[in-house]
Amino acid sequence: MSHSENELAELGAAFDANVAQEKKIEPKDWMPEAYRKTLVRQISQHAHSEIIGMQPEGNWISRAPTLRRKVGLLAKVQDEAGHGLYLYSAAETLGTSRDQMDADLLSGKAKYSSIFNYPTPTWADIGAIGWLIDGAAITNQIPICRCSYGPYARAMIRICKEESFHQRQGFEMMNTLCRGTAEQKRMAQDALNRWWWPSVMMFGPPDGASQHSDQNMAWRIKRFSNDELRQRYIDMTVRQADFLGLDIPDTDLKWNEESGHYDIGEIDWDEFWKVVKGDGPCNRQRLAHRTKAHDDGAWVREAAVAYSDKQRAKQRQHAA
Ligand code: 3HC
Repeated sequence: MSHSENELAELGAAFDANVAQEKKIEPKDWMPEAYRKTLVRQISQHAHSEIIGMQPEGNWISRAPTLRRKVGLLAKVQDEAGHGLYLYSAAETLGTSRDQMDADLLSGKAKYSSIFNYPTPTWADIGAIGWLIDGAAITNQIPICRCSYGPYARAMIRICKEESFHQRQGFEMMNTLCRGTAEQKRMAQDALNRWWWPSVMMFGPPDGASQHSDQNMAWRIKRFSNDELRQRYIDMTVRQADFLGLDIPDTDLKWNEESGHYDIGEIDWDEFWKVVKGDGPCNRQRLAHRTKAHDDGAWVREAAVAYSDKQRAKQRQHAA
């Protein structure tokens, strides 16, 4: 529906007032086109991350060391699929379609989290992913439970409850390895060495290079900056590593009495952008796997559409 200049000004002012008063913006509410666009961008990429993130862990379901570990990992990977579906559904309330979002991912147009482009060569990687990656995800996602867009905020509340289980099972795996044989402890340290810096990069570019932060914080999509959440994650995780008896692979890591936070060494932003741009260790493998799964599932989508068309035709016949 087109609006006059005055009407648009009134609608914009009402929108800003609702956001400022912490009122949720719902799908049928008027919203600035740029607000809609940035939400489709962030929510769809969040969903893509959940789905692609199933690959590194799914790799180990058939090789889990015990039945208990297999059951826990199966439950976690199934949860991630569900998180992806909640988030795709939240994005669809903004007018985009699942087909469009899938096409954007498979064509390389849409991003997913850099963190899922690293390999998982040992069982300790599965513990490190739960402990570090889900720990980072929780740090980033808890504030999104208060996002101004209703469907995204509500999806996050359910997702964060399940992420807590993910983080705990990962930490417990690392704790078991660290209290096991010397070889198991070495495996846990090796996994921390490989996952620490990619997990710190997960929070996005530094505040000065974050293209969307200012506007998204004004719209209360984002509640804290990339660096604020990164620091929160670092302060929490350094202490957990200490409890495990593991060393953070950063010789510049030190407690800063003045700031009350840990200072860390330089983050390799060249590596970050290289991975984001598609040239990480597993980018091609992840996208090829997702593309094959999409192609293999074409018959299921066609059958579902044929069935729903038939049902609709029957309903029309009854109505006539
Ligand atoms: N990986 C890939 N791309 C990234 C990135 C990362 N870690 N961090 C930032 N980027 C991209 C952004 O998408 C943006 O590119 P775009 O304009 O093409 O979308 C560009 O880098 C600039 O970054 P900004 O900081 O300006 O972007 P945002 O304001 O969107 O902040 C974000 C980035 C913090 C990731 C934010 O989008 C966000 O909070 N997203 C929701 C959470 C999310 O997606 N988490 C991904 C992991 S999901 C997960 O871990 C699941 C768990 O179960 C394991």
